[in-house]
Amino acid sequence: MNFYSDETYGETVAGVYDEWYSDYDSHAIDVLAELAHGGRALELGIGTGRIALPLSAKGVEVHGVDAAASMISRLRAKPGGDRITITQGSFAEIPVFGEFALVYIVFNTFFALSSQDEQVRCFRNVAAHLSRDGCFVMEAFVPDLNRFTGGQVNWATKVTTDEVQLDVGQHDAAAQRVISQKVVLTEGDVRLYPVQIRYAWPSELDLMAQLAGLRLRERWSNWKREPFSSESMHHISIYQHE
Ligand SMILES: C[S@@+](CC[C@H](N)C(=O)[O-])C[C@H]1O[C@@H](n2cnc3c(N)ncnc32)[C@H](O)[C@@H]1O
Repeated sequence: MNFYSDETYGETVAGVYDEWYSDYDSHAIDVLAELAHGGRALELGIGTGRIALPLSAKGVEVHGVDAAASMISRLRAKPGGDRITITQGSFAEIPVFGEFALVYIVFNTFFALSSQDEQVRCFRNVAAHLSRDGCFVMEAFVPDLNRFTGGQVNWATKVTTDEVQLDVGQHDAAAQRVISQKVVLTEGDVRLYPVQIRYAWPSELDLMAQLAGLRLRERWSNWKREPFSSESMHHISIYQHE
């Protein structure tokens, strides 16, 4: 069985997400608040509010879209969660009303859309919800094919005396897809956390933007706005209307 839908990742990881991924770069919050320049912000794949909550605490009106009810309910239960308007649905479609000064997607979440078609549709819907002087910010990794040997992904990400965490997956280079599982092994227990992505290089993202009537304004290697280069492993890309 390989059933995997928009909500699979969030529904399986919701119970451990905050324990595994609570950290964030405070520069990200400063940059996003500045780019919202007093307007409304929309986060795609808002999750449990790792970025949305501190951004909202800075006085930005934050809205969000997420496919997973379990992630959304955790966000709603947190202090400040009631200030964020959340819509359940796919961020390929962006089922919200109105325009935003800032639309953003962080933590490689764009790659959760499993086909090029869906990714292009997302860019088009972002453009439709972006105010004339607004911007779309994406934080993602730069694909590195050296990570996949013989079409395989195999990493031990945590090894302690009572727990092993493995990332195990298969890579389809032609489709730019990785089908993987985070496997958590403890005495007498095995937990599976499926993750399926379609990755894209910055150049392909720029082309998707162009198809949607957007263009790249800036690209940095991190939230401190350091220059992006061919050595960069991550990018923060800022798109605006053409
Ligand atoms: C890696 S988490 C990121 C959460 C949050 N943005 C953060 O930075 O901590 C990805 C989130 O995207 C959501 N997601 C994945 N695919 C989605 C889709 N097609 N439409 C809407 N949400 C989706 C998941 O449910 C999850 O909450």
